[in-house]
Amino acid sequence: MTLARFAHGLQTGAFDLPDQSRVVLMEPGIDSDPGLLHGCDVTVQHNVKPAFDHFAAMGLETTTHATGPADIVHVTLPRSRELARGLIAQAEQAAPGGLVLVDGAKTDGIDAMLKFARSRVTLEGQLAKAHGKLFWFHAGTAFADCALPAPAPVADGWITQPGVFSADGPDPGSVALLDGLPKSLKGQGADLGGGWGFLTRHLLEIPGVTGIDLVEADHRALACAEHNVTDPRVTFHWADATSWGPRGTLDWVVMNPPFHTSRTPDTALGQAFIRAAARLLRPKGTLFMVANRHLPYETTLANSFGTVQDRGDDPRFKILQADQPRTPDTPARTRRR
Ligand SMILES: C[S@@+](CC[C@H](N)C(=O)[O-])C[C@H]1O[C@@H](n2cnc3c(N)ncnc32)[C@H](O)[C@@H]1O
Repeated sequence: MTLARFAHGLQTGAFDLPDQSRVVLMEPGIDSDPGLLHGCDVTVQHNVKPAFDHFAAMGLETTTHATGPADIVHVTLPRSRELARGLIAQAEQAAPGGLVLVDGAKTDGIDAMLKFARSRVTLEGQLAKAHGKLFWFHAGTAFADCALPAPAPVADGWITQPGVFSADGPDPGSVALLDGLPKSLKGQGADLGGGWGFLTRHLLEIPGVTGIDLVEADHRALACAEHNVTDPRVTFHWADATSWGPRGTLDWVVMNPPFHTSRTPDTALGQAFIRAAARLLRPKGTLFMVANRHLPYETTLANSFGTVQDRGDDPRFKILQADQPRTPDTPARTRRR
């Protein structure tokens, strides 16, 4: 989500932003243009590594947890209601005496959040634009009881947190992938987009597995993974899986790749994960992945691997094994079967 509503509020004089104002942007969309905050002291809080790196590369101060003090904290509403309330509670703490701006699309629940906020605090203003709303109020303690819960046990003892992928328990696609994995897996591998550690913890039960790199972009999910997996064979990486790691070093890669960026379906991201796996694998290495049957990964798989086969017969998911990795500089030798 861009900062269009924030910009509109400034342009129409709905609120002020004197030079040198200390502004915190909490989890803005990667397409946001902080140029409108020229002359301000801007800090970006981000939980997602590619976005964190993107704003850092713009020369902005970046952190995973802003403490302020700030004059204005702008919160981009996430999909999870509990996470959204937690961020607003944090925003109030970071802006003592300042303004908290809450900005979200209708599809992300801004109307429900507006109603909730109205029941607790006197709003200073609101505006509607581009299928969403922005409202603002003076920071106090109205949301003090909404602080984001720490990582905590859910189903079957797994530890997760609101806002992470499949926060209520194991994802059915990952369970199907696990059932389809060969027990002969051995050597060093990676769990790309490893989330809160479901696949990694089970992979450690396979006797031949000597080490796992769990690569995850979501900082909160990675923190949960560190609770769920305490085996010294695992190394945790807060990183963008599409650019992480050394070429041609892994025996296997396992993944349930993301197919959404926020609410938007994003098949390009899953395709980038496939190319990353091909780059990371040794010539004799193998990729195992799960995907919903409708997702269009075949062309990317055929361009990135010599052979591809479906190991499962689940009507919902493809459980794919891909061998003979190749990258743009390695010529194709084997046709896909
Ligand atoms: C479909 S979920 C699978 C999570 C986990 N493997 C599981 O089985 O529960 C995809 C995961 O990829 C992560 N992700 C999204 N983009 C990423 C990126 N560029 N680099 C690394 N991880 C990413 C998401 O945060 C999410 O945890």
